[in-house]
Order: sequence, then structure tokens, then C-alpha cells
Amino acid sequence: NTYALILAGGSGTRFWPLSRNSKPKQLLNLFGDGTLLNQTIDRLKGLVPLENILILTNSLQEAAVREVAPMLPAENIFAEPAKRDTAPAVALGIGLVAARNPDAVMMVLPADQLIQDVAAYQSVMSDALSVAESSDGLVTIGLRPTWACPSYGYIERGDRASIPGLDLEHPPFEVKRFREKPNPELAEQFLAAGGFSWNAGMFVWSLPTVIKQLTKHAPELSGFISELRRASDLNATVSAQFPKLTPISIDYALMECADRVLNIEATFDWDDVGSWISVAKYLEKSGSENRVNEPVSELDSENNIVFNARKGTRVALLGVDDLIIVQTDDALLIANRHQADAIKKLSDILPEEL
Ligand code: GDD
Ligand code: MG
Repeated sequence: NTYALILAGGSGTRFWPLSRNSKPKQLLNLFGDGTLLNQTIDRLKGLVPLENILILTNSLQEAAVREVAPMLPAENIFAEPAKRDTAPAVALGIGLVAARNPDAVMMVLPADQLIQDVAAYQSVMSDALSVAESSDGLVTIGLRPTWACPSYGYIERGDRASIPGLDLEHPPFEVKRFREKPNPELAEQFLAAGGFSWNAGMFVWSLPTVIKQLTKHAPELSGFISELRRASDLNATVSAQFPKLTPISIDYALMECADRVLNIEATFDWDDVGSWISVAKYLEKSGSENRVNEPVSELDSENNIVFNARKGTRVALLGVDDLIIVQTDDALLIANRHQADAIKKLSDILPEEL
């Protein structure tokens, strides 16, 4: 009765021009070992059977998702009719899983993270599944924070949780408070206070528990799930009702107000690959010196990230430092390395088709 819901509907603006709205981060093969979505599916081997892995995406990305996930039954890939952020997506996923098994224990997983230690990941997630099955908690995975990043959720750890009957390698903590994307000052305070973890963006819960919590704290979403369960034509109900849901992330809609949140500390490596800088970090490690898809020729140039995805072409640099240069078949990006996080802003000024 174990299910995984992979959320793969985020937009593709941070890795422009390699990523597009039809091909966001999770569909890129940035590291040469498959797309991040593929890696997310592969990591579940032995933990969740393929027929119980569902992917939610949007219509722009659906074709590309189907192309990279041919191992899943076609009906397990579902395109949302409108972009409504993660809370409506999760509600839809809960409805789809409930139709198959109302007592399921499910994981909700982002599609765009890089996690390399699969054994450690599976060990943590399998304990999280056991905790979710035998408690009334919503289980989160915590990461040790290294700086006051304002774009993550913060989890304040309380006491060790007591979950009768379980003997776990990764015992959970009660969560005193879940706080999504605090402002930088508050994030600094959390870090200084200690006892806080970053939320890894993965959630594990049993359907009866999460539906009870949604009914109490997010009735619009539990109402939508009930409608799905009553629906004679599921697709028609989704097309009619989903676009009406309020756009909000699951972190705000549910996690910040849930009655009981539990947390298990991650013992695996984790990176949400937020920009070209973090990609470069891995390319460096693999000995490719800040660049892939050669050829690149450099003279008197330092600290540049060059990603040349245009076959048959060469990039040459002379006397320039600290640049991000990305070349694809139809676009060329030249950006200051210190503005890597702002690349997403380009989408405001680029023509729609790019
Ligand atoms: N299907 C679907 N539909 N997926 C979506 C949608 C949507 O409308 N919007 C986002 N996603 C997917 C993204 O592709 C990603 O895999 C995942 O849902 C999380 O969404 P993000 O938009 O990347 O969330 P975030 O990074 O701002 O914050 C979340 O993740 C952080 C860790 O990376 C939160 O859970 C934070 O608390 C957490 O720290
Ligand atoms: Mg993210």
C-alpha cells in the first residue's frame, strides 16, 4: 500500500536557455546521468513498485515527462489543467491514490533534486513510511541548514517522538513549528537559535491522516478530494474544478498549520540545484572544470561556467572572468556569475516562445 507522488510541474526559468517552460530543470540531463526526474524514479527502486508511482505535471511538460518515464503505466502520468502550485497538485494526487487504495501510505516528492546516496535515502524514506503508517503525523525530512536561505521551509525540532511499536534506525522528532520561506532576518534568527532544519520538500503520510488534516485546515482541498471520489468522470471533474482552486503551496496550505508534524533527519546528500552555480559545483567535482559539452577554448579567462549545448560549435573565451555562458540551438545567454539567481527574471523580458 505504498505510493509515491512525484511533483514535476515547476516552471523552467532558472536554467534558461537550456530550460524552457516546456522543459524545466527536472527534465534536463545536467549531469550526464539522466534527468533529475529519472533519478527521482530510479531512487524508488525496491521502495515503491512502478505501478504505484504517479507523476503530476502540466500540459506544457506532459509530452516530455512521458518521454522520460516510459517505465510507468501511462495512466500514472497526469497533466493538471491549470497551474495552481503544489497544494492543489498534492490534493489531486491524494484523490488519485485514494481511488486506488484509501488506506495507502504515500510519499510526496519533488522531481528536481539531486540526491546521490541512494542507500541512505532509501533507509530514511523507509523509516518515514513506517512512521507515517503507525502514527497520526505528517512526516517531513530535515536537512542541516548551512546558511540562512530564505527560499526553504524551516522546521523547529521538538522532543523525540514516541511511536509505539517501532524500532527505527532514524527515529523522528516532534515538530514545534513549520515555517515556510521566512524573510532573511528571521532565517538568520532561526540559524542563530539552533534546533532548526531545512525542509527537504518531501512529505510522507497516510491517506486517512492527511485527509483528516486537510478537512480541518484546508477544506477547499478536502472538498476537491471528496468531489474526485464521487466523480463518475474523473477527467471532467478535474478539468472543471481544479482551475478553481486557490494557488498556494502545500507548505503554506497545510504544513504550517497541521496538528502534528514529525521530522526525520536526512543522512543523505541533498541539493535542489537552484542555479548554474550549483550545477558547476558538480561538474567541477567530476573533473570537467565548470563546463560540459566541449569544445570550449579559454585564454586568460577564469571562473567561467560554459555550457555549450549546440552541437558542432565551439566557444572561445579571451580575457573574461566570472561569466555564465550557455549556448543552445536557438539562444545564447551571457550572464554575470554573481547574478545566477536572477536568471529567472529574464523570463519577464523574453518573448513568450523562448
Ligand atoms: N505538478 C506540479 N504542479 N508540480 C509543481 C507545481 C505545480 O503547480 N509547482 C511546483 N511543482 C513541483 C516542482 O517542480 C518541484 O519539483 C516541487 O513541486 C516543489 O516546488 P518548488 O516550487 O520548487 O518549491 P520550493 O523549492 O519553492 O519550496 C519547496 O521545496 C523546498 C526544498 O527545495 C518547499 O517544500 C520548501 O519548504 C522546501 O524547503
Ligand atoms: Mg524547489
